[in-house]
Amino acid sequence: MTILTGKARLAGIIGWPIEHSRSPRLHGFWLERHRIDGAYVPLPVRPENFQVAVRGLVAAGFAGANVTAPHKLAAFDICDTIEASARRAGAVNTLVFADGHITGRNTDGLGFVANLRAHGVEPAAGPALVLGAGGAARAVVAALQDTGAQVTLANRTRAHAEALARDLPGLAVIDWSERSEALSGRALLVNTTSLGMAGNPPLEIDLQRAPADLAVADIVYAPLETKLLAAARARGLRPVEGLGMLLHQAVTGFAGWFGVTPQVDDDLRRFVAGDLLG
Ligand code: ATR
Repeated sequence: MTILTGKARLAGIIGWPIEHSRSPRLHGFWLERHRIDGAYVPLPVRPENFQVAVRGLVAAGFAGANVTAPHKLAAFDICDTIEASARRAGAVNTLVFADGHITGRNTDGLGFVANLRAHGVEPAAGPALVLGAGGAARAVVAALQDTGAQVTLANRTRAHAEALARDLPGLAVIDWSERSEALSGRALLVNTTSLGMAGNPPLEIDLQRAPADLAVADIVYAPLETKLLAAARARGLRPVEGLGMLLHQAVTGFAGWFGVTPQVDDDLRRFVAGDLLG
């Protein structure tokens, strides 16, 4: 374990509950690898204490923090500057503190795109079909559109998809029942729903009509290989696993707080995956 000095840089993750977060393990790995005089700690903060907790971190000299459920919207109110990434994603997941000033950004979309590229998938190579219309969908769609990709969305509750399309101009919406046939001509399929997560039913989609070079990305990472990804692999399509998005979204936060741009590699992946590897 690294022994801190009086000059240690501090960051952490604010959530409620927070004990299942893998972020302390992820940032801890990089801190250790780079022998940085710093720490990244879990910060269990009840919703009603969010503002006072963030002010406290600023006052205590923290460099910043990640923000997770249920605080990603509350974080907007406390920021002095909101970056375009957070506005587009509709949520703040990263806070950077400098001289008492709080900046909010969202790194989920960038993490998603960086993970695609790490798998050799160019996000704007062709039209994408995104499934789901929750917070994760919004960050993913915004980031795909920012690369120039043409994006179509299908969600069980069509009204949720249409609400997203009002905020993200250019987003096309189709019915949930059309998701399998809509695969023809696509370059990318993304699951942002909670289907396929351990304890949930799998995502039902027929990959028969999928083009031979379709990339299939799942943002679910527990299990590491969802049934969707296994089916994609079995058909010779290009699977992109969800854990990589978690790893890549952490890069810019770490760089901002600790001053070193860390690498996402297999050692990190194995360390963070831990029990998920089974
Ligand atoms: P997050 O913010 O993490 O994306 P969320 O807001 O709860 O999570 O979104 C969950 C997504 O999974 C939604 O798109 C949801 O569809 P609805 O908008 O219809 O609720 C989708 N989802 C969850 N369970 C589903 C199911 N059994 N079948 C289809 N979609 C489902």
